[in-house]
Amino acid sequence: MSVTVRVPAKVNVQLAVGAARPDGFHDLANVFLAVGLHDEVTVTPADELRVTCEGPDADQVPLDVTNLAARAAIALAGRRGIEPAVHIHIAKDIPVAGGMAGGSADGAGALLACDALWQAGASRAELLAICAELGSDVPFSLVGGAALGTGRGEQLRTLEVGGTFHWVFAMAGRGLSTPAVFREFDRLSEGIGIPEPVASEELLRALAKGDPDALAAAVSNDLQPAALSLFPELAGTLAAGTAAGALAALVSGSGPTTAFLARDPESAAKVAETLRSSGTCRTVRTASGPAAGATVIGG
Ligand code: C5P
Repeated sequence: MSVTVRVPAKVNVQLAVGAARPDGFHDLANVFLAVGLHDEVTVTPADELRVTCEGPDADQVPLDVTNLAARAAIALAGRRGIEPAVHIHIAKDIPVAGGMAGGSADGAGALLACDALWQAGASRAELLAICAELGSDVPFSLVGGAALGTGRGEQLRTLEVGGTFHWVFAMAGRGLSTPAVFREFDRLSEGIGIPEPVASEELLRALAKGDPDALAAAVSNDLQPAALSLFPELAGTLAAGTAAGALAALVSGSGPTTAFLARDPESAAKVAETLRSSGTCRTVRTASGPAAGATVIGG
């Protein structure tokens, strides 16, 4: 008996970052869009907790309790007073350390899968609370679609989306650590007054209308200068995608994956092809959003 959950990647169409808080986190206005790149997390009863992973980036995935999937199983088992005796297998398609919430996706996926496997009966509210304990982006991986995340990104308001947006993602040759990118943000903004992060009304309207040109004009990522400072080569990838006709080019979250918005699937395919031959990135994928959140697909 096993349970498999499919869980999407995300791109941040707006990431407004406030000043560092006393707890070290930053208040955000974080507009998440789930996109159709997925990990699949399968849980099977076992003698003890074990994590395995397959996929092109599998060698970079930690298989110990630092993996959010393992932490999710431990958190739910702890609440039910049972042992987290489960084998978690991750079929990984979301880039690792890429700014697309791949680790968060596995946390949300494992949580939903364990809840079904153990018939733990967690309510949506309890699942979301556990997700928020695991990490700032984990609640959104559970929910999917599009949402505005405030606080450290974990307090979600679902957003209306009036169409499908077509994206191209360029994966870089190495990862970037999210804490390192936030530290660089702090360093770059030293001595500068940082405004309260607020969601752009123009951007929310563009999402609601499903209008790619309006969305392209409104996307922003306050972490982009920090990601570029730590990974200057990303500027070349962004320029290559823009030259190929992307409506917008930006770093996804803390990076280093770069995201390109296209008007339609044909234009996305053209941007992808140009990026592939540009020599500025490791792999290129196309995906559209919004995509559904974590979903049980077998068991
Ligand atoms: O919440 P999560 O564990 O994903 O965050 C990883 C790291 O990213 C944090 O330790 C912190 O350094 C940084 N972070 C932040 N402000 C946020 C979210 C994350 O500074 N709102």
